[in-house]
Amino acid sequence: MSIDKKFLDLFIKVTEKAAIGASKFIGKKDKIAADKGAVDPMRNELNKINMEGKVVIGEGEMDEAPMLYIGEKLGTLNGPKFDIAVDPLEGTKFTANGEPNAFSVLTISEKGGLLSAPDSYMEKIVVGSNLPKNLMDIDNGVEKNIKILAEVKNKRISELKVCVLKRPRHDGIVKELTKMNVKINYITDGDIAGALSVVGKNPTNDIYYSTGGAPEGVVTAAALSCYGGQIQGRLVLDKEEKIRAKKLGIIDFDKKYNIDDMVKGDVIFCATGVTNGDLAKGVRDLGNKYEVNTFALHKSQNVIKLVTNIYNK
Ligand code: FBP
Repeated sequence: MSIDKKFLDLFIKVTEKAAIGASKFIGKKDKIAADKGAVDPMRNELNKINMEGKVVIGEGEMDEAPMLYIGEKLGTLNGPKFDIAVDPLEGTKFTANGEPNAFSVLTISEKGGLLSAPDSYMEKIVVGSNLPKNLMDIDNGVEKNIKILAEVKNKRISELKVCVLKRPRHDGIVKELTKMNVKINYITDGDIAGALSVVGKNPTNDIYYSTGGAPEGVVTAAALSCYGGQIQGRLVLDKEEKIRAKKLGIIDFDKKYNIDDMVKGDVIFCATGVTNGDLAKGVRDLGNKYEVNTFALHKSQNVIKLVTNIYNK
């Protein structure tokens, strides 16, 4: 079974509307307002679609998020059953500060196709296409993984480019990478775009190696499942997060999730730029209209495209 191709345009519209909503807060120094600016129209648009949608990755659990919470039902409830993972505004800080790489993103699978993960951290290693399956293992440690990657890519270790999310928790990883003399490309936020920098026509990195959000990990896995890239992730859970994870059906807290453990079957992925970014250009205010740009993937249809649309204000 696969997702009917008519749904792609409908979901593109969802992230377009969310991106326009968030764009009104670019540079306004208010992360929360920017997020809400994306969440409200995203939910509105999702509710217009003839589907029985269920949020499996969302703004948080029911008691902490007023909408787009994990478990929330969306759509007219008259149509196919879908799992929905949303990140209405990836890069809330980027938007608030008027910086590049903020976008609105969602991914859809058939029911049961996406891992439902709590809003915790996830250790992640991401590598590109055309490499032996399940190449990376978090338990190998940095040095061994980098050596394996250099070997299969037939590159010198010093030629490898590693994308790292700049956080003190990565000091250990950075120390090892520095010792190995690889090139480190830091990102300050936005690890979906960071992770996806290892795939595509001209990947800017060979590997993404950091701990970021678990929801972002699943969304990344969905996009990679359309490209052929790989991810391995492991949840980082404190005591309270373990209780929440258990409620979502997770029993093995130390499980290493490869791509097939996070994403099964057909997938749609849409990311609409809020500010200009690596995946798509940002929302352009044309006076009485908005121009929006979306990077869209539909696995079963082999769709990988950039879509530009115009909306009247
Ligand atoms: P938001 O835009 O939703 O705030 O997320 C930005 C982000 O950089 C994610 O891409 C990343 O996974 C996560 O935050 C990292 O979390 P933290 O800032 O707590 O290290």
